[in-house]
Amino acid sequence: MTIHPSSTLTVPQASAIPRHIAIIMDGNGRWARNRLLPRVAGHAEGLDAVRKIVEECRRIGVEYLTVFAFSSENWRRPPEEVSFLMKLFLKSLKGEVSKLAENDISLRLIGDISRFDSSIQEMVQFSEQKTAGCKSLTFTVAANYGGRWDILQAMRQCLAANPNLQPEQVTEELLQPHLSMAYAPEPDLFIRTGGEQRISNFLLWQLAYTELYFTDVLWPDFDEFQLHKAFEWYSQRERRFGRTSAQLASKVMSEAV
Ligand code: IPE
Ligand code: IPE
Ligand code: MG
Repeated sequence: MTIHPSSTLTVPQASAIPRHIAIIMDGNGRWARNRLLPRVAGHAEGLDAVRKIVEECRRIGVEYLTVFAFSSENWRRPPEEVSFLMKLFLKSLKGEVSKLAENDISLRLIGDISRFDSSIQEMVQFSEQKTAGCKSLTFTVAANYGGRWDILQAMRQCLAANPNLQPEQVTEELLQPHLSMAYAPEPDLFIRTGGEQRISNFLLWQLAYTELYFTDVLWPDFDEFQLHKAFEWYSQRERRFGRTSAQLASKVMSEAV
């Protein structure tokens, strides 16, 4: 497995186009309410937005796209809404997997899917296997995912793999391979639609140095144009990773000569 550099241990190379985008797709319920529709109609519409964004990311050369589909706290929603989301998830996996494979997009799931129906678990396994060799874009869906769960499960795996580990021997390098997104570099750009400015227990560890972009646009209305607006904003950021602006400027100068 490729070991991706950690933003807290080394200064990562920042690219013009974000290599990895992580999105909290929020606002489906409000989108539906604004149209006097049931909340679930917003989720169905949100799926179309996912398709558009996946395609656009692949087209412009984003390498990793990660979306938050269902949080470990979303079980608190009314049972009918949870059940609708599960059915939509299964239906979309069945309907999209061949298209993903044709477009050279690999699908990965992160989160504790052991709580899902066996039909979903089997479909997840099938979809991951079918797209495993695809290289153009890695599309990750976070389902029953929580950032705290991720850190805890990584710690448990790390201790299981190194049973004689002393507390002072626990390092980032040792823990990192057990995190659920160890196969990807840390996100460069985080997008949250729907107007809230919070992380809601998404990738807590991995977002350490990610640029955070918040927009009031509701997820079903988020399209290619909105994605490019986020890129535009991202391109204006100075990614210092703890250094000063002057240090960055002198690095650019020394690389130019
Ligand atoms: C995000 O939209 C989708 C999920 C959490 C599954 P919401 O359903 O949270 O929409 P709002 O925030 O209520 O508008
Ligand atoms: C975050 O949205 C989770 C997903 C988009 C899947 P929520 O709507 O659940 O977040 P909160 O409750 O407003 O923080
Ligand atoms: Mg919400």
